[in-house]
This record gives sequence, C-alpha cells and structure tokens, in this order.
Amino acid sequence: MKDSDIKSVLITEEQLAAKVAEMGAQISKDYQGRKLIILGVLKGSVVFMSDLIRSITVPVEMDFMAVSSYGAGVKTSGVVKILKDLDRLIAGYDVLVVEDILDSGMTLSYLTELLRERDPASIRIATLLDKPDRRKVDIKPDYVGFTIPDEFVVGYGLDYAELYRNLPYVGILSPSVYESNQ
Ligand code: IMP
Ligand code: MG
Repeated sequence: MKDSDIKSVLITEEQLAAKVAEMGAQISKDYQGRKLIILGVLKGSVVFMSDLIRSITVPVEMDFMAVSSYGAGVKTSGVVKILKDLDRLIAGYDVLVVEDILDSGMTLSYLTELLRERDPASIRIATLLDKPDRRKVDIKPDYVGFTIPDEFVVGYGLDYAELYRNLPYVGILSPSVYESNQ
C-alpha cells in the first residue's frame, strides 16, 4: 500500500468520530425501553460498529452476518450468498442492521427480506455511507452517516480486495489501483 493509492481524504478521523457519536445518541433515544440487537454485516461494518456501540447508552446485544455479492471487483453483481448466519433467534427483537456503505442496495434489500421472515419486532438500517446515485432497488436507510458521491472509497472498515480497511479515515481510491488489476 502506497500513499499514492489514495487520491484524496473524503472524511477525516475527526469528522467520523463526531458523526458516529451523533448517530449513537440518536439510536439511544429511539431504542429506549426496546430489545435492541445490532447486526453487523461482516467485514466492512466492523470498525464503524465498534465505535457506534460505544456511543449507544441503552442495553444492546450484537451479532454478525457475513454475506458476499459474488465477485471481487468494485461493482456488486446482485447475487447475494450467506456465508455466516446469525447465532440466535431474533423474533420479538428490534434489529438494527449496520453496514459500511449502501451502494446499489442489493445486499441489504436481500438481507432485510430474509430477516423479516424471522419475525423481528422491527428492522432498521444504519449505514455509515450512502451512495444514493447508484441505487438499483428501492431501499432507504434509517440512519446515515454521510451521503457521498459515486466514487470508490476505502478505509474505516471499507476495503478494496481486502486491503485498506485499517485506514483511520475514508479516502477515495486512486483508479490506477484497480485499473492496474484488470
Ligand atoms: P450494494 O449491495 O451494492 O449496496 O453493496 C454494498 C457492499 O458493496 C458494501 O457493503 C461494500 O462491501 C461494497 N461497496 C460498495 N461501494 C463500495 C466502495 O465505494 N468501497 C468499498 N466497498 C464498497
Ligand atoms: Mg466489502
């Protein structure tokens, strides 16, 4: 990984911290007296989720699912495969699905349909980033950190070919990185 792999910083560490604290406060307000489960979608949501749960002040359980949209490129294929399911039942619980980014919306649309069949009390979506310009299905997140333009971004959990998740900020990936891999 070289510094030149990142074209520019889109969201700084400070901006991320402030926004995540704000989202946690809102979620704490909305879920008072509820049975909340935060469901992280592996692996991209892990960094966001670990910060988010620490700014939530109501009782909260956490669990994870792993899904893959076939293919490892920068565009999603629309076909979603469950790689790891929940360890528990969610009937009667308020499920908050946490994602790194909502792009075409295919992944979350598929996932929320699947979860709905398990009779949770409610399902909502919290996404750190939203790219509404690329939406292919009608899905709206309930909590959004930042609405961003149609650029491929990495860092703070988001990857390109499994790299860059450890960057403390969100940066725009230089197209030269993925163009040289094609
Ligand atoms: P969707 O199904 O198209 O909404 O895709 C959601 C998934 O695609 C996310 O959870 C990410 O793993 C991946 N993704 C979409 N856009 C980006 C991006 O700009 N950077 C990194 N991953 C992305
Ligand atoms: Mg990903």
